[in-house]
Amino acid sequence: MHLPRAWPIWNGLLAMLLAGKAAQAINVDINSERVTESIKDAASTVTWGMMTYYHGNESGQIPGAFPDKWWEGAALFLALLNYWHFTGDATYNNELSVGMEWQSGDDGDYMPSNFSSYLGNDDQMFWGVAAMTAAEFKLPDVPDKFSWLSLAQGVFNTQVKRWDTTTCDGGLRWQIWPMQAGYTMKNTISNAGLFQLAARLARWTNDDKYAQWAQKVWDWCMSKGLLNNETWFVADSTSIGDGCSSLGRDQWSYNYAALFTGAAYMYAYTNGSAKAQWLTAVQGLLNHTFETFFPPQYGGNVMEEVACEPNESCNRNEILFKGLTTSWMALVATLVPSTYDMIVPKLQTSAQAAAKTCTGNNNNSCGVRWYTWEWDGWTGMEDQISVSNVLSVSLLNYTKDSAPVTSTTGGNSTSNPNAGSHDPSGSIHKPMKITAGDRAGAGILTAVFISSWIALMIWVLMG
Ligand SMILES: *[C@@H]1O[C@H](CO)[C@@H](O)[C@H](O)[C@H]1NC(C)=O
Ligand SMILES: *[C@@H]1O[C@H](CO)[C@@H](O)[C@H](O)[C@H]1NC(C)=O
Ligand SMILES: *[C@@H]1O[C@H](CO)[C@@H](O)[C@H](O)[C@H]1NC(C)=O
Ligand SMILES: *[C@@H]1O[C@H](CO)[C@@H](O)[C@H](O)[C@H]1NC(C)=O
Ligand SMILES: *[C@@H]1O[C@H](CO)[C@@H](O)[C@H](O)[C@H]1NC(C)=O
Ligand SMILES: *[C@@H]1O[C@H](CO)[C@@H](O)[C@H](O)[C@H]1NC(C)=O
Ligand SMILES: *[C@@H]1O[C@H](CO)[C@@H](O)[C@H](O)[C@H]1NC(C)=O
Ligand SMILES: *[C@@H]1O[C@H](CO)[C@@H](O)[C@H](O)[C@H]1NC(C)=O
Ligand SMILES: *[C@@H]1O[C@H](CO)[C@@H](O)[C@H](O)[C@H]1NC(C)=O
Repeated sequence: MHLPRAWPIWNGLLAMLLAGKAAQAINVDINSERVTESIKDAASTVTWGMMTYYHGNESGQIPGAFPDKWWEGAALFLALLNYWHFTGDATYNNELSVGMEWQSGDDGDYMPSNFSSYLGNDDQMFWGVAAMTAAEFKLPDVPDKFSWLSLAQGVFNTQVKRWDTTTCDGGLRWQIWPMQAGYTMKNTISNAGLFQLAARLARWTNDDKYAQWAQKVWDWCMSKGLLNNETWFVADSTSIGDGCSSLGRDQWSYNYAALFTGAAYMYAYTNGSAKAQWLTAVQGLLNHTFETFFPPQYGGNVMEEVACEPNESCNRNEILFKGLTTSWMALVATLVPSTYDMIVPKLQTSAQAAAKTCTGNNNNSCGVRWYTWEWDGWTGMEDQISVSNVLSVSLLNYTKDSAPVTSTTGGNSTSNPNAGSHDPSGSIHKPMKITAGDRAGAGILTAVFISSWIALMIWVLMG
């Protein structure tokens, strides 16, 4: 392959490789400096490439909106948060703050009216997690706008109201609205995401109500087999049609990562025997993640999304999973110190492999499959987002004080425990519950259900 030597990323990589080689012989501090600079250069180039796909700050465009894939905005802003937090480069912070506020909706709960009529719980959750991350990384609140913490609380409050005990003894459905395909499923990422958000809010606020919800979601996932606390297998979904008795068993890294990250926050939050149990959970889920997604045939330290990369069938969502998983691993390393030495080499080697894919299209486009250590012909915003994430978080071992903060360790984002209280979607399951008691026929049930759904839609669209 032709390698244009003038590209900054390539220079950065050469420096990184040389520094790595010399590390055995020469003073560690000096080498760390050089490694740090080369990774920052690489992260800067890849993140710049990522931002060429973002038009939200151009005139006539809508900040933070990705009309055909709204959740990807959250993924992009999470990458920008990691980029700023680990490199210290605030170039994109204005777009970050403006975009995350713009999409927060009138009620501060990431149910903006342009998109709220076709959201999944997982879509909304990712924005809530991005807002929580902003608070934990000390991105300053924007004056006279929703605070980052309150936005995370708004998502939490609206989601727990959708906890659906009318089927499968609880759990969040995948989709929020009955007209959407996926409404009849309860999937792992929606529930694991709520678990993680609750655990993060518990640690930040020290308010046990959030921890109780985290425990409740965790227990429900276990009761349905989405999570197995002996083998640490994590399934992808279960279906209401058969009472959640069978599992979709596809292996996606972000399901594991959403759970081990939440467990790490619970570890940080709890004391005593509960702490020991959460430690076992973190270790068990990490072990399973390492065995599955860091395959030994590629050296054991380079991440692969195993369900779609071998046959190159990854869709846009799936390309984002490695970025989410590696960046959550970095948080876990700071929250559960005993995992640090296991996690850091995986981030560093994955970052090196990922950066090597960024030689595409004569413009440093990154590819999808990091384990090939070269560009694989793929191009896209999602590819850039994932590589940006892994490069940023690979600086973990060269960054001081990178642990997420709380209200008592330097965080000052304003709390609003009642955020998001006007969202109507929590009542979506209630008509079914009331009318099911009447011996009404299925047709009437459906009619009642649909008409209340239409009423809600009107409420959403007008409100
Ligand atoms: C690089 O070039 C490809 C192919 O022309 C294009 O699709 C992509 O948007 C470009 N990426 C950047 C970062 O400029
Ligand atoms: C949008 O942000 C980028 C990166 O910060 C900047 O280079 C560009 O000038 C901005 N565009 C507008 C229209 O503000
Ligand atoms: C919703 O759409 C309108 C019209 O395109 C636009 O002006 C507004 O900024 C959008 N709001 C959000 C949150 O995307
Ligand atoms: C909160 O902290 C940030 C950064 O640490 C600082 O910029 C901001 O002024 C603080 N806000 C308040 C209200 O103290
Ligand atoms: C798994 O969960 C069950 C139910 O909460 C508990 O009794 C058991 O001790 C757990 N096992 C492990 C290995 O944590
Ligand atoms: C854990 O212990 C600390 C220090 O004793 C205490 O402040 C905190 O509230 C405890 N947390 C829980 C969840 O019990
Ligand atoms: C995870 O793997 C480590 C190292 O192989 C092992 O010592 C530990 O017992 C495992 N933990 C769990 C909970 O499976
Ligand atoms: C790719 O492999 C996965 C996992 O083996 C399989 O589920 C999927 O159907 C395959 N996709 C294509 C397009 O071959
Ligand atoms: C982190 O960096 C220090 C010094 O730079 C090095 O000694 C240590 O081995 C590194 N840790 C890991 C897990 O790579």
